[in-house]
Amino acid sequence: MSKRVRTAVFPVAGLGTRFLPATKAMPKEMLTVVDRPLIQYAVDEAREAGIEHFVFVTGRNKGVIEDHFDRQFELETTLEMRGKTAALRELQQDLPSAGRTSFTRQQEPLGLGHAVWCARHIVGDSPFALLLPDMLFKGEPGVLKQMIEAYEETGGNVIAVEEVPESDVSSYGVVARGDGPDTGFSITGMVEKPKREDAPSNLIISGRYILQPEIFALLANQPRGAGGEIQLTDAMQTLMTQQAFTGVKYRGQSFDCGAKIGFLTANVVYALDRDDIRDGFLKELRKLDLEDRL
Ligand code: UTP
Repeated sequence: MSKRVRTAVFPVAGLGTRFLPATKAMPKEMLTVVDRPLIQYAVDEAREAGIEHFVFVTGRNKGVIEDHFDRQFELETTLEMRGKTAALRELQQDLPSAGRTSFTRQQEPLGLGHAVWCARHIVGDSPFALLLPDMLFKGEPGVLKQMIEAYEETGGNVIAVEEVPESDVSSYGVVARGDGPDTGFSITGMVEKPKREDAPSNLIISGRYILQPEIFALLANQPRGAGGEIQLTDAMQTLMTQQAFTGVKYRGQSFDCGAKIGFLTANVVYALDRDDIRDGFLKELRKLDLEDRL
């Protein structure tokens, strides 16, 4: 039987340059979709999948993420005094229990691969989940849970993938699909940002991974790749020569909240799906005479 995945790594040390000036002093991962920061959605997804230990790879200006996952006694006392019990309960539910979070720093933003490597001593010799919090997924169950279900069958490494139009493949990491159903097929190759005609499929790597700890030794020796950064995909390509990789074409919808269009779309979709917001939001949208603006 495969070793259980108990730990999740959240790399949150990037500069978020696509979202400047919002991200000048505030981490991208604290941008809110309706009323929850992106990082909270990722932690909720991990908890739903059975994760017990939450490891954050932070950087400068990211202290607020640590505060977000701490208790706020003054706020809690005030909410209690004012009888705002629902808000108080929600705050308490959002918090991983004591001792289940760890924070380490990536001292320079040298790329996703380097951020993951920074978590090596905390993760140790166990498989771990990796969630990029700026990718937001609406799925039932959540995408990581769907991946854990595949992992329990296959073990090894698991990557969530999604289909994009063929014209878009050159912006992403792309996998080659082998045998097996959408819920768990073998990955036979992967390339980073291929030319459209060289892409092995239109299935892109989309921000959720389950990785074996052997990735750390490969990342340690990984030369800088595209953009001068230490690329996770490069290390995964090497790991593929030694271990199995399974693809999960997840059921659900993704929003790239590291980019403005994805972020704005996510806010509209999540607001329309919220019972407490939908009617009021629709009323305001209708007042906007969208027909005239579109
Ligand atoms: P992105 O490439 O989307 O983030 O990395 P970025 O570099 O912050 O954004 P842009 O391109 O400048 O707008 C995906 C995830 O990996 C983290 C980011 O914080 C994000 O959650 N990351 C990226 C790191 O932790 N360290 C890095 O060196 C790079």
